[in-house]
Amino acid sequence: LLGRVFVTRRIDKAALGRLAAHATVDVWRERLPPSREMLSEGAARADALLTLLTDRIDGALLDRAPTVRVVANMASGYDNLALADLTERRIAASNTPDVLTDATADLTWALILAAARRLGEGDRALRAGAWRTWEPDFLTGLDLCGATLGIVGLGRIGAAVARRAHGFGMRVVAWSRTRPTAPGVDWRPLHELLAGADVVTIHCALTAETTGLIGARELALMKPTAVLVNTARAEIVDHDALLGALASGRIAAAGLDVFDTEPLPLDDPLLGLPNVILLPHLGSATVGTRARMANIAVDNVLAGLRGERLPNCVNPEVYDLI
Ligand code: DGY
Repeated sequence: LLGRVFVTRRIDKAALGRLAAHATVDVWRERLPPSREMLSEGAARADALLTLLTDRIDGALLDRAPTVRVVANMASGYDNLALADLTERRIAASNTPDVLTDATADLTWALILAAARRLGEGDRALRAGAWRTWEPDFLTGLDLCGATLGIVGLGRIGAAVARRAHGFGMRVVAWSRTRPTAPGVDWRPLHELLAGADVVTIHCALTAETTGLIGARELALMKPTAVLVNTARAEIVDHDALLGALASGRIAAAGLDVFDTEPLPLDDPLLGLPNVILLPHLGSATVGTRARMANIAVDNVLAGLRGERLPNCVNPEVYDLI
């Protein structure tokens, strides 16, 4: 066997079986994530960790886990890993890109459509008996055909959202730091994008530069009829500024799949607003996608335990040190 792996939650059975064929596997079997203490205890016995975005892996934890040499995060985002701390300790880390692109782009569209066409309000109105008759102005929303979609962060998921937008007859503009191109997408400076878009959707990674990227000033640039969707990371959009913009009608609606604190506390004022659709971080939540993510994380753990380069390494500079 190649070593000992701490898997911080139950994941796809077949993927776990593949891992168990080559390594000793400890699985955290509870529904809720291991506490910091339990995570540290599991890591202290392990050569590799297979983690989720709910597990914070940093220097303090790794100092108590000196045998760990691989951390495979079962997510595309890896802001839960203190990457510099890992690299410094010669630990290679990986994510699971590509396999969740379509699922996340689809869910983004579910939120765009739901927020633009007021599906949450409609569902609640019907259940509350507020649907009295067909009325010319009852729950009228935003026309998407002919409208402009503004994509903040044109990576894999942003580009997949753009491809779908063309099917809805939308014009697509995007802002990305690195100015990549995609068919039928025009680059715009961020402030110009915000001012011109009817729908703004967030797809950049959470980094020091993107934390608070969309604050009160940026929201104030948006059209009062505009919709904001975030399926990336909550911290990119300032929570209080968004709350204020939605409550005052400064923007029309929002669709959110991610929150500063997850699960979203039930006393968060967002829950009191009619014009926001709230989902419990479902971007990649399809059966097939989650199985593919688990298998990719396993591939990375096995490569690391074999002393090979991780196929989806997110800190390749570590190989200059090893
Ligand atoms: C990710 O992969 O980063 C998502 O947030 C969960 O799939």
